Amino acid sequence: MTTAAPTPAAQTDAPTAGTWSAPGRVNLIGEHTDYNDGFVFPFAIEYRTSVRLTTRDDARIRVASTFDPDAVEVALADLAALFPARRDEIVEWARYPLGAAWALLQASGADPASVPGVDLDFSSDVPVGAGLSSSAAIEGATAAALNDVWGLGLDRVALAQVGRRAENEAVGAPTGIMDQMASMLGRADAGTFLDCRSLEAQVVELGFAPAGLALLVMDTKVTHAHSTGGYGERRAACERGAAIMGVPALRDLTPADLPRAAELMDDVTFRRVRHVVTEDQRVLDAVATLRAEGPRAIGHLLDASHVSMRDDFEISVPELDLAVDTARAAGAVGARMTGGGFGGAAIALVDLGLVPAVTDAVEKAFADAGYTAPHIFTVTPSEGARRDG
Ligand code: GLA
Repeated sequence: MTTAAPTPAAQTDAPTAGTWSAPGRVNLIGEHTDYNDGFVFPFAIEYRTSVRLTTRDDARIRVASTFDPDAVEVALADLAALFPARRDEIVEWARYPLGAAWALLQASGADPASVPGVDLDFSSDVPVGAGLSSSAAIEGATAAALNDVWGLGLDRVALAQVGRRAENEAVGAPTGIMDQMASMLGRADAGTFLDCRSLEAQVVELGFAPAGLALLVMDTKVTHAHSTGGYGERRAACERGAAIMGVPALRDLTPADLPRAAELMDDVTFRRVRHVVTEDQRVLDAVATLRAEGPRAIGHLLDASHVSMRDDFEISVPELDLAVDTARAAGAVGARMTGGGFGGAAIALVDLGLVPAVTDAVEKAFADAGYTAPHIFTVTPSEGARRDG
């Protein structure tokens, strides 16, 4: 029988099988391009979600977390009936790990009766609601742990696809695959340059520290949710634009196609299209510039990306604009909002010596504007999902 309602955390004598973790991510550049089959350039960060997995001798899965007193337990065989149709019966945070378990069973074709039951205990230091992919971290940790313990043998790209399916169908957020790929494929000091059509990924050294730079995250504390509202509307506008242009996805357009697009579509759709098409080009330019000249040379591309999101895609909010403008005025090499938008965090590439001054300037600007105090911290490009013990 399905126990979809939260139940108190159960204890078990079964042996602990191990601990796995997966990171959150920052997107350096390439926003709302992933579901348009385009290019993105994110990196995994040192903030991670960990899961302690313990096998159990029945065919049930229990998920518990330090941020919710109640665990949720269901029969593995019931996952297929719960997702996606009856997902509302599961408390929201538990849809991420249970959805990942469901998507993993689906992707591998494994019979739920043939794998051991599991207890999964989560803890995380990835800021939630900040646009740093706390959800991809929980999906990635779950998928990596179960893939190993159930002996399924899926590779990292397949595990990222499992995470994305959980996000899309078990949670109901119509996102692309960037976050899960970044969390799975991250490398220390490197970014993941990803073609979201072929899913080919290249590891590109970022070289921030050798260039005397730090990457600052400015979490505005304005929360967002991509399962509601604006994100889906932007996605629909992109699909409309591609259909008008007669291409499978906006990836298939270049900046040279924009004058024709302007003639064929209404102003709002055109500006959505222009953001995506120019953003794809900025990703390609950022990777080429980084390789040729180093990270200091990409500042203007970060700035241009923000302007495009603010004016054409219209996904920024005043707090994000203030963080970006203030960081730049205080000497940042470049700055932009990161992630899906409508809140969350902005990033700034800053000289190491200017980190305190930029931080102070942004905090002061927020106080002067009467905004909630931002959370400002540096991040380091870090390793992707892994087994820790
Ligand atoms: C969210 C989604 C990603 C991507 C970004 C915008 O983070 O999860 O798939 O679409 O927004 O670039």
